[in-house]
Formats: sequence, structure tokens, C-alpha cells
Amino acid sequence: MQLTEVLKRRYATKAFDASKTLPEEVVEQLLALLRLSPSSTNIQPWHFIVASTAQGKARLAKGAAGSYSYNESKILNASHVVLFCARTQIDDAHLQKVLAAEEHDGRFATAPEIKAAAHKTRVMYLNEHQYDKKDVPHWLEKQIYLNIGSFLLGAGLLDIDAVPMEGLDLAILDAEFALNERDLTAVAAVALGYRAQTDFNAKLPKSRLAAEDLFTLI
Ligand SMILES: Cc1cc2nc3c(=O)[nH]c(=O)nc-3n(C[C@H](O)[C@H](O)[C@H](O)COP(=O)(O)O)c2cc1C
Repeated sequence: MQLTEVLKRRYATKAFDASKTLPEEVVEQLLALLRLSPSSTNIQPWHFIVASTAQGKARLAKGAAGSYSYNESKILNASHVVLFCARTQIDDAHLQKVLAAEEHDGRFATAPEIKAAAHKTRVMYLNEHQYDKKDVPHWLEKQIYLNIGSFLLGAGLLDIDAVPMEGLDLAILDAEFALNERDLTAVAAVALGYRAQTDFNAKLPKSRLAAEDLFTLI
């Protein structure tokens, strides 16, 4: 299928068919999308809570409280819901874990001296955000959004309906999953599954700003 066809077909699904569940092989590919997403210096500052049971989705739906209640039925009726969490800080333990994974995966097999250089570059970027730009949480959150972007496109390519949701009480979700205790914080969620026949949004035309407003071709 052509990429533009996928881009036009995917849309923010507002109503899911609660009777339909994603096949296991699709779930595996979706998890691969989350895991293989790129991040600055490969820092991977994320964790994903993946709800597929009624109990798990009910816990996530607690975040759709108050003015966010419009998202509740999406969470409850979707097949799977992913809560994207960001690390609140990058400590040495995390840096060493990333480095060990890179070594285990063979990144330094032919040139062991690269290991120290890889660590040094990562620390350099981290220090820049910590001491110069003073924007570590913002920087880490950007990596999460990049992951969400590729996740939505990947879901579209797999012909899975999805909706990203920022409309959540993140403090409630932090508390529900004791995220802060694990140096994590909730950022946004994506519900996945199959659209309900009643979804008004499936029938609406896609709308975007005109190309001439968006592109400067030089
Ligand atoms: C970061 C982000 C957060 C969003 N949050 C919500 C949300 O909480 N609830 C919802 O129904 N749609 C949400 N949306 C869907 C957008 O409204 C939708 O993507 C946008 O209007 C473009 O329409 P399309 O995705 O159908 O092409 C969100 C989209 C993004 C990218």
C-alpha cells in the first residue's frame, strides 16, 4: 500500500469496537515499534504500560477523569492501550544499562574503544541539557513524542486504528502506577483496536493546512 494512502486512511479513532481484539502477531509488531524507536544518543528514556485486560484498561481509564472523561470510552473499548512514560531523570544506573545493552547487542564487537566514546557522547548531551539548556524533562519528553509519532504511523501501516491521547490526568496515572517512585512519569497514551461502525470521525474528511502554508521549497 502507498504511504500516502495509509496517511489518509489513519485517523484519530473516537469510538472502538469493544468486541474486536488485536491478533497476537500484530501486538508483537506494535511492541517492536515501541522498542525500536530512535532516541537522541540512544538514551531510550521510556517505559510503556500496555493494557489489554479489562482490569488494566480500567486502571488506565482512571486518568480520563473530570474534563478528560471524553477519553474514557476510548480506553475501555480499545483492544490495547499503551501509556507512554518518560524517565524523570537519567542516573548512572540507566546510562550503564544502555551501554551494557549496546555491548551485548554487538555495537562494540569490532572496535571496543568505541564503548567509552559512546558513553562519553551520551553524558555530554545529558550534561548539556542538565547544565546549559536546563531542560532535561523536556528533552526526554521529546523522545517520547518521537516514539508516539512512529508508533501511530506503524499502527496505520498495520491497518490498526488508533488514537493518541494527551487528554489525561497524568498525576492520577503517576499515582495509580507508582511511577514517580520508579523515576518515571506518564506523558500520553495511545489506544489501539478497530473502529466502531458508529465512529463519526471515520466519515469526516481529513483537514490540514494548505501545502503552500507549510513548505518552503528552496
Ligand atoms: C499529541 C496528541 C494528543 C492528542 N490527544 C487527543 C485526545 O486526548 N483525545 C482525542 O480524542 N484525540 C486526541 N488527539 C487527536 C487529534 O485531535 C488528531 O490527531 C488531529 O485532530 C488530527 O486528526 P487525524 O489524526 O484524524 O488526522 C491527539 C493527537 C495528538 C497528536
